Amino acid sequence: MLACALPGRRGLAHRAGARLPASRANRTRANATQSVTETLVLPTRGAGLFHVIDPHVFDRALLDELCDLATRVRTLAKSEVGARALRDLLPTRRAMLYFTQPSTRTFLSFNNACHILGMRTSEIRDPSTSSEVKGESFDDSIRTFSSYVDVIIMRTKEAGRAAQAAKLMDSIPRPVPVINAGSGSDQHPTQALLDIYTLARSFTARGGIDGKVIGMMGDLKRGRTVRSLCYLMRHYEGVRLVFIAPPQFAMERDIKTYLDHHGIAYSETTQLDAVLPELDALYVTRMQTEWDTAGESRAVDLKPFSVGTHELTLMKRDAFIMHPLPRGPEIDPLVDHDPRAMYWRQERNGMWMRVAVLIKIFGVEHIVMALAAADSEPPFAGRLA
Ligand code: NCD
Repeated sequence: MLACALPGRRGLAHRAGARLPASRANRTRANATQSVTETLVLPTRGAGLFHVIDPHVFDRALLDELCDLATRVRTLAKSEVGARALRDLLPTRRAMLYFTQPSTRTFLSFNNACHILGMRTSEIRDPSTSSEVKGESFDDSIRTFSSYVDVIIMRTKEAGRAAQAAKLMDSIPRPVPVINAGSGSDQHPTQALLDIYTLARSFTARGGIDGKVIGMMGDLKRGRTVRSLCYLMRHYEGVRLVFIAPPQFAMERDIKTYLDHHGIAYSETTQLDAVLPELDALYVTRMQTEWDTAGESRAVDLKPFSVGTHELTLMKRDAFIMHPLPRGPEIDPLVDHDPRAMYWRQERNGMWMRVAVLIKIFGVEHIVMALAAADSEPPFAGRLA
């Protein structure tokens, strides 16, 4: 059984060591040579979440479940006992962080998410230190990672690499799940998850995401976060999107076709001031200058696509501002002091959402639910009843 004995907290301790239910039996591998049975938790294709390559893998039920799990783990982690219980969930599992494109938040939040669950991590961030410089193919490198770890989390400059890695995994005898942590200017599914979590949390007292008006502003053409988030909007009723971008960086046709196909209302404008009063949330993005071929970004006057103290006066009192970060000049740091600035909380939400994703991939969500249920019980309640 999983070692999650929890000293000092009656309710939790009673449920500690919960055996995996029979339905999970095919997802476990017992080491019969040990006198104390330890169950190794391995993700299995076809049973729950495996690869996370693009947002299409999520439906509304899974989104709701992941948001709920994220909230439960962050609550558990607040106490020493809960944090230790989480750390005992996956202590024998290993993750590879293959990040060959710059990253601060996504790398650190995944790395720390793994550590919260007791996982160990190894990393490659600079391809010049890997055998790729000796001419090893991408596929051979990925296959090598999979020999040592139980999940590969990857970010690449090229679109489609995570999908290629997942396809390779699906063709070998010992596949491990692949998580796309950003692929070119194409997709960033776990950012979309944490954005959904931030929206859902922030709209809790206002009936959730359904029916809200959400602005997306900045370099919508090359920003992968807004592209992934748009895909997830089809799971929410009556959402209306407002795209605010310089014409040369407007949202791409493929996303608009997708929105049309799924009946999601959207409009486009270059006039932030005109639409600000109707927005429930504004998702700001930076110019993706790294994709410039001839300094295109510098030709843009960013002022009309920026948020400062003037814009705050035009926003609803209960609207809020998000940003995947890092930010450029599009949000004045003075805005940070306004309670409607949500981006620092959004950043923190990212780590908890990534913990939830790993929990789901390794199929230990039932243990987290049991721990959370026990944690919410008053001490000794079970005994006295
Ligand atoms: C985003 C990214 O890398 O796409 N950042 C992030 O993951 N938090 C947004 C960006 O770089 O603009």
